[in-house]
Amino acid sequence: MKHELEDLVRSLLELPETIGGLGVTGSTEPAAVRDHLRGRYDFARPVPLAEAAADVAEMLRRWNCHVTHPRYFGNFNPSVAVSGIVAETMAAAFNPQLAVWSHAPAAVEIEQHVLAFLMRRLGLDPSAGAAHFTSGGSEANHTAVLAALTERYPEYGACGLAALDARPRVYVSLEGHESFEKIAHATGIGREAVQRLATDARGRLSVPALASAVAADRADGWEPCLVIATAGSTAIGAVDPLAETAELCAREGLWLHVDAAWGGSCVMSPRLRPVLAGIERADSVTWDAHKWLSVPMGAGMFFAARRQPVAAAFRTATGYMPTSPEGTLDPYVASLQWSRRFIGLKVFLLLAELGEEALARRIEHQAAMGDELRARLARRGWRIMNDTPLPLVCFTWPGWEGRPEPVAAAASRVVSRGRAWISAVLRPEGARWLRACITSFRTTPGDLEILMEELDRSRSSQDDAGR
Ligand SMILES: Cc1ncc(COP(=O)(O)O)c(C=O)c1O
Repeated sequence: MKHELEDLVRSLLELPETIGGLGVTGSTEPAAVRDHLRGRYDFARPVPLAEAAADVAEMLRRWNCHVTHPRYFGNFNPSVAVSGIVAETMAAAFNPQLAVWSHAPAAVEIEQHVLAFLMRRLGLDPSAGAAHFTSGGSEANHTAVLAALTERYPEYGACGLAALDARPRVYVSLEGHESFEKIAHATGIGREAVQRLATDARGRLSVPALASAVAADRADGWEPCLVIATAGSTAIGAVDPLAETAELCAREGLWLHVDAAWGGSCVMSPRLRPVLAGIERADSVTWDAHKWLSVPMGAGMFFAARRQPVAAAFRTATGYMPTSPEGTLDPYVASLQWSRRFIGLKVFLLLAELGEEALARRIEHQAAMGDELRARLARRGWRIMNDTPLPLVCFTWPGWEGRPEPVAAAASRVVSRGRAWISAVLRPEGARWLRACITSFRTTPGDLEILMEELDRSRSSQDDAGR
């Protein structure tokens, strides 16, 4: 049995290199998957581990959208480096409990070592601030809202929103992430407290619109509290004007959170760092390693410029948790989670194996592939619809503007053939654009050319259907 498991583990370690040989998508018939499970796993009859694990691996090969494929041009789900697979295996095998330092000194210190390094890259001071790993960007954004409310309203923690005279208002652009409505619901400020703001022609937060909203809300009984700027918006890759937004927040006494879940990785590249100029003035930052740092899910990161509001939001005491030595940090009193998985190991091993220069080159390679895709699309007559320095391209065919149907049909035709995955995004004004994001450091010009072939083919069958 051991030998069979070794074969499986070997094939998993090779998967990042071999995935390109599979189709990007498999069949997605719910009945096929359910029948397979019902037929084999009634849990009355035990199945040997090697057999069950090999079967699941096969199921994942067949019935999965392979987001690690170099021609997955989709949402921010990356190819993973082998170091990530090794790290996840080690985390599972040792299962260190990171709630308290004294249970996992090596793991807690490894995470803090990595986070301090990345925090300096953001331009924040680790000795004054706080940082921890999260399940993902949503948890990191949630943490930001809790910390901002806790700093602004010391009574919020003990007595809740009912104790406040004020109605806290949170600002985010129309392109900002939708997790903020869920977070407003969960924190109790309510979804209506999230004020969505107009953007400029490039989809970036309009700072004049923000200034007017703050003034109007104050006159209207709201209390402006927190501004969320996005660095790399999900649909179109817009980067809000961070420095100008920081300026306004400083003037108005507002907490600035930068949701850099995807775009944060630009700080690793000297060439791309200027795209995020101003992020160093944030009160808090979300940055997901499981987006552009090519580590497996989930690996979000939360950074705060000051430690105190985070400590105040998550303070707790029990009679049963083990104690830790003076001068160490217990993550369960400094973050939303209690029991903690060793999330940071995959980021540590990635940085250790590659070093910062090679990592910067990987990130720059993806940006270069984005530029190359834009150029190839334009040469073939496609119209580029978004404007971002990041590798996310929205485009359409002349004549399809204002007609969402041909765009959606083109995306599904590409996906159904299985050689590439792209999506069609619905824009606030009702238009649809094709969207292709470079999410893999393994994407090559050859992969872009295959995408171009698939797009051309999909467009000509569209033209045939229209005749
Ligand atoms: C800008 C942005 N913020 C936050 C999130 C949420 O991150 P997660 O899916 O890791 O919770 C996403 C997800 O794509 C995102 O694009």
